[in-house]
Amino acid sequence: MDELLLTEKKKYEKIWQDKRYRSSSPGYKLAHLFFLFAKQVRGDSITDFGCGTGRAALRFLGRGMDVQLVDITKSALDESIKTLAHIDKRVQFVEASVWDLPQEVATTDWIYSADLLEHLPEEKIDSAFKCMASRTKKGGMLQIYLEEEPFGELIGETLHLTLKSRQWWIDKVAQYWEIVLVSPEAADHVRFCIFVGKPNENC
Ligand SMILES: C[S@@+](CC[C@H](N)C(=O)[O-])C[C@H]1O[C@@H](n2cnc3c(N)ncnc32)[C@H](O)[C@@H]1O
Repeated sequence: MDELLLTEKKKYEKIWQDKRYRSSSPGYKLAHLFFLFAKQVRGDSITDFGCGTGRAALRFLGRGMDVQLVDITKSALDESIKTLAHIDKRVQFVEASVWDLPQEVATTDWIYSADLLEHLPEEKIDSAFKCMASRTKKGGMLQIYLEEEPFGELIGETLHLTLKSRQWWIDKVAQYWEIVLVSPEAADHVRFCIFVGKPNENC
């Protein structure tokens, strides 16, 4: 395991011990946006990269999807989601970093990530997108937060490592996937979503 990966993993193992970090799940809250974009999903599969608590899985299961959850640390998962992944074949969890995905991370119809990408070190964004694009069949939703966040202070760490403009992210995503839609800045100037279609041919 490379040193940066280990450092990042330890950081998230620490922050996930703090109950306050578990108090909300953007991925769970924002899943309705994904369903507005991808209307026919019953029977399809989806990967939630940087799944955190894993709560978004409940939304996807509710629409008849199979769910693969990926996070740098298993300790992020809510206990109830750990149990679900244990007993329900429709839910799989893989502990891995998105910039170094093992073969066991399957390619799924859809991909989803909420408040993950800005957490990655800038030098790992290209490898992360390459890994994620190579696991995408139909498309997905990438939700990105553009500003600092307060929780890192709880453990004396910086959690948002790549703070860039909307346009920087759009240009970067366009190198790996066809961009179908970007949420308007007027809707929320801090959080925004890029809806992607199929990955580019070179991915
Ligand atoms: C702000 S939380 C978002 C969690 C979840 N998506 C949600 O919306 O509730 C960021 C998540 O990314 C995970 N993470 C950070 N770096 C990662 C990496 N390199 N690979 C996979 N997951 C990572 C963290 O453990 C954490 O669960």
